[in-house]
Amino acid sequence: MDLESHQFITFFEAEQAAQLCEIAIVEKYPNQTVIFEEGARSDCLYLLLEGRVEFRKKIGPNQYRKLTTAFPNAFFGELGIIDGQPRSAQAIADGYALLGRVPEEGFMKVLDGARGSVITKLCSYMVQRLRDTTEEYIQQQLHKEKMVLMGEMLNTVIHDFKSPLSSINLASSMLKEQHPDEETEEWCDLIQAQTRRMAAMAEDFLEFARGSAVLNPKPVNLSSALQRFEKLNLVYFQEAQAKVEIECPPDLVLKIDEGKLLRVLQNLVGNAVDAFNGRPGRIEILVTQQEQGVEIEISDNGPGIPLEIQDRLFESFVTHGKPQGTGLGTAIAKSIVDAHGGKILFDSVPGQGTTFYIYLPLNLVSLEDPEAVHS
Ligand SMILES: Nc1ncnc2c1ncn2[C@@H]1O[C@H](COP(=O)(O)OP(=O)(O)OP(=O)(O)O)[C@@H](O)[C@H]1O
Ligand SMILES: [Mg+2]
Repeated sequence: MDLESHQFITFFEAEQAAQLCEIAIVEKYPNQTVIFEEGARSDCLYLLLEGRVEFRKKIGPNQYRKLTTAFPNAFFGELGIIDGQPRSAQAIADGYALLGRVPEEGFMKVLDGARGSVITKLCSYMVQRLRDTTEEYIQQQLHKEKMVLMGEMLNTVIHDFKSPLSSINLASSMLKEQHPDEETEEWCDLIQAQTRRMAAMAEDFLEFARGSAVLNPKPVNLSSALQRFEKLNLVYFQEAQAKVEIECPPDLVLKIDEGKLLRVLQNLVGNAVDAFNGRPGRIEILVTQQEQGVEIEISDNGPGIPLEIQDRLFESFVTHGKPQGTGLGTAIAKSIVDAHGGKILFDSVPGQGTTFYIYLPLNLVSLEDPEAVHS
């Protein structure tokens, strides 16, 4: 968008609009460039022409809380000029941002000569923006409260689970002792692995609710980890009539939290199975080593992710068409991939299927230390 067609400029009459365009300095801000810091003097206003700008408040050393995002045609920074207060938040380019910067002096001069109708338009825009920011803040607070509530509930559930889980473990150990044949041993091991998994799942939920994913990374042979994943899910896949195919280079070693990464796969594969809705389906897990790291592709031939939630898929509590869905599966998956320094994306075509792409960075790949591989 060019300066002339920006809504802020169109608020003004032709002569003032031309003056504003003349004094505005158009500048490109690369990704993550700070446009202004919280507390800085308010010396100009900005017209967003292209890209995105994020506003955030400092909540600790190197820790920020996002307030809101501005999109093209928005303007910001005028409040501080009008009331003479310093910047109330940091503004930073999210991706890149092309901005028209209007210096304070020129802006005030044009504003002094502006007609009442121009001031009304400006005020109504500013009031609307304040309303939107307040609404966003309320939503964030509600979300936080939900998380706290969930954390408290989980604490109780985990506590109550402990005793039945240890009884199941004990019973399967005794069964193994009394029937030391290979088949019984294998089934008992599976029971114990599943109870460990249940406890770990509940802990993962709790960590997510608290917002504190604690990673315990170890060198892991990915191919062996995927075999374990398949084994743990054998009965589940059979019952769901899901044909699962896994392809992974045999000697790929990653420094990851295996339990947590398998949780990511479980959530994504579980979603695919849910989407099959009792019909037979196919799921492929394909691992490839790339220049930048490792890519794990999980694709299914289900009905695809509903279009209306695709934009917000990774947000907590976003669910669709599942009476039992909590809307946390993909949010937890993203938090775990993020904690590993990776990225998760997806591509979904209605009626054809869905593919999730997980990229794990190069620094997690270690081929030199096969001795340390835990399997
Ligand atoms: N592979 C997929 N195919 C079709 N729809 C999907 C797929 N993965 C996710 N979805 C849709 O995205 C929604 C959100 O998924 P997410 O895993 O975050 O939550 P959920 O499955 O609803 O609940 P939870 O995982 O907490 O039990 C699902 O309700 C479903 O509608
Ligand atoms: Mg899910």
